[in-house]
Amino acid sequence: MKHLIDIMDLSVEEIDELIDKAKSIINNPDDYREKCRYKKLATLFFEPSTRTRLSFEAAMMELGGNVLGFSEAQSSSASKGESVSDTIAVVSGYADIIAMRHPKEGAPLVASYKSEIPVINAGDGGHNHPTQTLTDLLTIKMEKGGFDNLTIGLCGDLKFGRTVHSLVAAMSRYKNVKFVLISPEELKLPSYVKNMYIKKNNIPYTQTTALDDVIGELDILYMTRVQRERFFNEEDYLRLKDSYILTADKMKKASDNMIVMHPLPRVNEISTEVDNDKRACYFRQAKYGKFIRMALILKLLEVD
Ligand code: NCD
Repeated sequence: MKHLIDIMDLSVEEIDELIDKAKSIINNPDDYREKCRYKKLATLFFEPSTRTRLSFEAAMMELGGNVLGFSEAQSSSASKGESVSDTIAVVSGYADIIAMRHPKEGAPLVASYKSEIPVINAGDGGHNHPTQTLTDLLTIKMEKGGFDNLTIGLCGDLKFGRTVHSLVAAMSRYKNVKFVLISPEELKLPSYVKNMYIKKNNIPYTQTTALDDVIGELDILYMTRVQRERFFNEEDYLRLKDSYILTADKMKKASDNMIVMHPLPRVNEISTEVDNDKRACYFRQAKYGKFIRMALILKLLEVD
């Protein structure tokens, strides 16, 4: 049985297959409406979410399946002190597949050891977010046509932004990729991510605090929110939260072919005036998330 805990659990070929399947679903939705009839997805969300949980639920519904679960730890037995392992052992008996989000890094991995059904990591603390990365990869494929020869600017909270960590890992496997890491000093990409994926593969990268200086070089600008919930004190958050604000004026310096991505939710880091720019693709990106999650559910449930 296969789980998805880390994006590197999937080979490049498996990612291609998922992307092809997602495209097939986009083009022929009717062919998929009954694929998961009588199957149940449990969404165990110990931490807030809008897109990830709803897109998982919509994905399962569009496959003809059912959904059960909870959307906050307070409404589950975790609030009574139940361990993740025990919750999973029980839910394994009620559902066919689990999507789990947890504030503690590694919790979905622990869950997968105990589970009798596939577990999908829907975000673990400041660590990983593999299904956002699948969403990002489908977006890049649809908007840029492929993954090779791209200069990717990652901007904002690269320290706590789990979507960034998984995306760096995934993109490190493609040809002629370059990373431009744009963040305040305090929110730099963790060295374990840099060492494991960028340095180990000799991928060229630059680090800067100034978005303006580098925006003109980018094929993709991946903006992120400063992750308030991971800060130890509010003062630091307040000081850093508006480090980057992408405006229409700043977009003038970017190439006509650059795309702007964001996993959402957005706070202040992209001004709403940018939304009408054809290069802004974050709302399309959110939509792609449902289709790639449909493809993933089919794969893990071994449904053709
Ligand atoms: C991201 C997350 O949860 O890490 N959101 C999402 O799943 N689309 C990004 C974020 O919360 O900033």
